[in-house]
Amino acid sequence: MGAPTVRFATSADDAFVEELQATAFGPGRFARTAFRVRERFPIDPTLSLIAEVDGTPCGSVWMTPISIGGIDGYMLGPLATHPAFRKRGAGKLLAREVSRIALERGKGSFVILVGDYDYYGPLGYVQMPEGNVQWPGPVDPKRVLLHSADPTLSVRLKGPIAAFGARRQA
Ligand SMILES: CC(C)(COP(=O)(O)OP(=O)(O)OC[C@H]1O[C@@H](n2cnc3c(N)ncnc32)[C@H](O)[C@@H]1OP(=O)(O)O)[C@@H](O)C(=O)NCCC(=O)NCCS
Repeated sequence: MGAPTVRFATSADDAFVEELQATAFGPGRFARTAFRVRERFPIDPTLSLIAEVDGTPCGSVWMTPISIGGIDGYMLGPLATHPAFRKRGAGKLLAREVSRIALERGKGSFVILVGDYDYYGPLGYVQMPEGNVQWPGPVDPKRVLLHSADPTLSVRLKGPIAAFGARRQA
């Protein structure tokens, strides 16, 4: 089996992604707080990536444009790799690439997610001070992670999750 590669998703991948998310997260995925964010603010389909091994789709990641305290950025997730293709680097490749591509567009200055620090820490994600970001549901504060070229943003970013482009309230 070859090394994983990534490419942009197309609408032809929709069925694969839906089935993969169902396999990876089960019915509980609809109750997750990140799901509630995506219900309010649509994902950016031009930032959806697919991982492949030897031409077979095996992983997927989405990005949701959001803002916090008037600063634009993205929420990463869901990230999933098919169980038959795990531990080959596909998940980390997807997370790393989608974060890089999103920030290189120059319109958002951070990527936030709810996930395991042990997994995302080596990819440049840091834990945030507890309670600074207000989510539309419960989150474990230790799992709120941020990636940004600006190392001060992880402590400066405060407020509720709002729409991308929303102005900071005076
Ligand atoms: C998490 C997930 C995306 C990882 O995909 P993957 O393609 O196997 O990831 P990679 O191959 O890049 O990395 C695998 C490594 O991460 C480790 N790892 C996997 N999940 C981890 C976690 N939650 N915390 C810490 N390490 C983790 C693996 O043990 C493995 O370690 P190794 O390289 O030392 O063997 C995949 O297991 C999955 O889809 N899980 C279910 C959905 C999920 O939990 N998504 C993440 C939500 S934030």
